[in-house]
Amino acid sequence: MTPPAVVTGWGTALPPTVVTNHDLEQRLDTSDTWIVERTGIRERHVGGTVAGLATEAAAAALERAGTRPQDVDMLLLATTTPDETVPHTSSVVHHRLGLSGGAMDVNAACAGFVYALVTAFGSLAVGARRVLVVGAECLSRITDWDDRGTAVLFADGAAAVLLEATGGADPLHGGPGLLGYDLGADGSAHDLLVCPHGGTMSMDGREVFRRAVRVTVDSATAALCRAKVPVEDVALFVPHQANLRIIEAAGSRLGIPAERTAVVLDRTGNTSAASIPLALCDALAGSRVGDGDIVLLSGFGAGMSWASAVVRWAS
Ligand code: ACO
Repeated sequence: MTPPAVVTGWGTALPPTVVTNHDLEQRLDTSDTWIVERTGIRERHVGGTVAGLATEAAAAALERAGTRPQDVDMLLLATTTPDETVPHTSSVVHHRLGLSGGAMDVNAACAGFVYALVTAFGSLAVGARRVLVVGAECLSRITDWDDRGTAVLFADGAAAVLLEATGGADPLHGGPGLLGYDLGADGSAHDLLVCPHGGTMSMDGREVFRRAVRVTVDSATAALCRAKVPVEDVALFVPHQANLRIIEAAGSRLGIPAERTAVVLDRTGNTSAASIPLALCDALAGSRVGDGDIVLLSGFGAGMSWASAVVRWAS
């Protein structure tokens, strides 16, 4: 059981350079029509550094929350693309923001943000009061821009939430916070999506697609079951933003309609660990989540790894 907790601030950062499908048409054997029909992506942002994007998103979250950096107990930075092998990128973000407490990177590919969020709730259970959870990626650095199979998919960005312990009822008795979660990994399939040191990503897209739908449905269902929440009660489904067809297939098998699903990938592409918080923040910006709402977050990606969380929302 984790203590009651609320998200008091959130923020995003996208690099200013926008690459549209039409830009990609100029240099690759692809088309806007193919990309939109097969993925749902129309444009994506590229550039910056993970530390820079994460710092910008986290600073916005702190400002929105009205919280001083020195009052943060922990920074969890989910990323697959750290700026350097050593040190962990979160230490740079910690310094730039002037945070207190600990800082660590979490690498679980596209499931990383939900892994970090569950870890953040766990940190509150052992005494932390405020935890910054950030997803940030510069996937453009590990993308082969001559490979039409991957170049049309991946991009850069960051988003952050500030999770704060609060008083009152615990989540299982109507209070805000984590109601249930599901974490998993199947390393026997790790070679379906790989990037060696200094190299670029290669992927068996069809097999990843097939698994993504099945695992998202299974993991989301397991988290809802543990939370004792019927799927009809989900006010907002925030899936990993890899492919609109994966999101639609998973949503339809779960029984969650498009109007209760957060989608941002048409504007961002696949930003791995940043994709779920970017979609969540987009929904928050559109006032699509209110106090007491049930939010289901579900990520799936390289590893293959997955993570789902059911949260009763309050801000
Ligand atoms: N433009 C035009 N044609 C293309 C392109 C492109 N960009 N890419 C592939 N094609 C062609 C293929 O060559 C193939 O041609 P062929 O029939 O002549 O052989 C045809 O389109 C169909 O190819 P598929 O691979 O079957 O296309 P599919 O519909 O599966 O879409 C895609 C490919 C978008 C990669 C899809 O499989 C997918 O989204 N997979 C999941 C990817 C994913 O979720 N990755 C995320 C994990 S993220 C992480 O952890 C970082």
